[in-house]
Amino acid sequence: MQLSKRFSEVHEKATCVYTKEEVDQALDRMAQEMSARLGNSDPVFVCVLIGGIVPLGNLLPRLDFQLEVNYIHVSSYGLSNKVGDLHWKAEPTIDLFGRTVVVVDDILDTGTTLRAAIDYCKMKGAKEVFTAVLLDKRKPRKAGGVEEADFKALTMEDRFVYGYGLDYSEYLRNAPGIYAVAPEDI
Ligand code: IMP
Ligand code: MG
Repeated sequence: MQLSKRFSEVHEKATCVYTKEEVDQALDRMAQEMSARLGNSDPVFVCVLIGGIVPLGNLLPRLDFQLEVNYIHVSSYGLSNKVGDLHWKAEPTIDLFGRTVVVVDDILDTGTTLRAAIDYCKMKGAKEVFTAVLLDKRKPRKAGGVEEADFKALTMEDRFVYGYGLDYSEYLRNAPGIYAVAPEDI
């Protein structure tokens, strides 16, 4: 990758946790599971912006059934880390009433974001809400947070990672794999 001094130093010191090939294989598996469980439900895939873009963008061409795509923009970065204290930036543009919804995010960390997204979709009358993440960080969730995603491509220990949609200071989302940041760069 062509990067400025700051990000090339971060990238050089980072550890590759999953290569692009490993992510691709994991997405193949997740797509098969989704096809089996959701193939006849005409679901709406709701992308959690911005991190969900790369996982969902890579997943969609693997899904060979009828579906719609929409988005939600919710950010947990704020002054407080309390559950429910999220910043809503964009709501879906289609009616979720009576629909099977699949919320797709990059990572399950504390579980706060997915909990808020599920609650939102249910409040809008969704018939059922599934969650899907590229990465599941194995760690205790916050109280009230989602414990397990219905679909997960990969799992990993609790480290700060970037790539495949996950950002490091809003950059490096395009890194072609999952990389763990060196402790001194977090
Ligand atoms: P949660 O609400 O704590 O589960 O966190 C979900 C959000 O936190 C994700 O959508 C990511 O944007 C962000 N996040 C959590 N861990 C990481 C990480 O290791 N790298 C980049 N973003 C992360
Ligand atoms: Mg995110």
